[in-house]
Amino acid sequence: MNRIFSINPMSIVFKPRKEPRRILLCSPDFFDIIDVKNPYMQGHLGQVDQTAVSAQWELLKQVYVKWVDKGYLDQVLVLAGVEGCEDMVFCANQSFPFVDTNGIKSVILSKMKHPSRQKEVPYFKEFYESIGYKCIELTHTDLFEGMGDTIPHPGKQLYYGGYGHRSQATAYQEISDITGTPIIPLELISENFYHLDTCFVPLSEDAVMLCKDAFSNEGMAKIQSYFKKIYYIDAKEAIDTFCLNAHVINYPENTKKVAVLQKGSVQAIEALKAEGYEIEEIETSAFMKSGGSVFCMKMMIY
Ligand code: ARG
Repeated sequence: MNRIFSINPMSIVFKPRKEPRRILLCSPDFFDIIDVKNPYMQGHLGQVDQTAVSAQWELLKQVYVKWVDKGYLDQVLVLAGVEGCEDMVFCANQSFPFVDTNGIKSVILSKMKHPSRQKEVPYFKEFYESIGYKCIELTHTDLFEGMGDTIPHPGKQLYYGGYGHRSQATAYQEISDITGTPIIPLELISENFYHLDTCFVPLSEDAVMLCKDAFSNEGMAKIQSYFKKIYYIDAKEAIDTFCLNAHVINYPENTKKVAVLQKGSVQAIEALKAEGYEIEEIETSAFMKSGGSVFCMKMMIY
């Protein structure tokens, strides 16, 4: 696997990435907080206001529907939440979709850490099969949480892979082999940033916003060698507002770059504005009590 580059990564020509243009959401009908899988869930057991949950999820869906109407995306699909799968609404975690080297729509199924979340994966497998995807099971990996930990570099066939909490470093060896894509593994050193999608938002081929408290010095050095511009967000803002769980779309074929994120951040909004994004700020507080916000509540699919 192409994990460590001995020459300057800026000088490597990566294959262009085919970007997904459909959004998958999972309805939050059975969303609940029944245990503490991450620090944000502490003190929130049973504190689910189902009216707020439904209303906030519906608003997120409306943002994506609007983006389809404007031509920034092609379609919004909704998978029904299942009773007994309390975290299924966080549909970034159960899988990692990609297009294989022969152009076949494919998906790697996650090996989730928590037994209660492992139950979610077969429903996603069934969904992907129903839309014609090739489903791939990992055979050499025990822990991998899909797009929660694997984030593509905009425009380039290159991924970043977070490890240390929900995914293991060696998962990226297998995933790089399966996808035929180089992966830069990044160790996550703080339990507040337990998935890569809580602390790392690539904004363009050249720019990323991140919280450096999440990464080791070695990880930061790798990131600095792949992005010319880094917007640093304080840990307090990242933790309080989940702003680094923003979802940004910056496809070259679209007329606008658009971002949706939890309302209330200052530094992330400045970074997004500096990069030319049109911004939607929404309320996701009901889901933040479970340790997730926008990016975890959707999956980008082909
Ligand atoms: N309660 C869920 C968990 O701990 C939240 C997942 C949020 N997802 C994310 N990609 N950050 O698994």
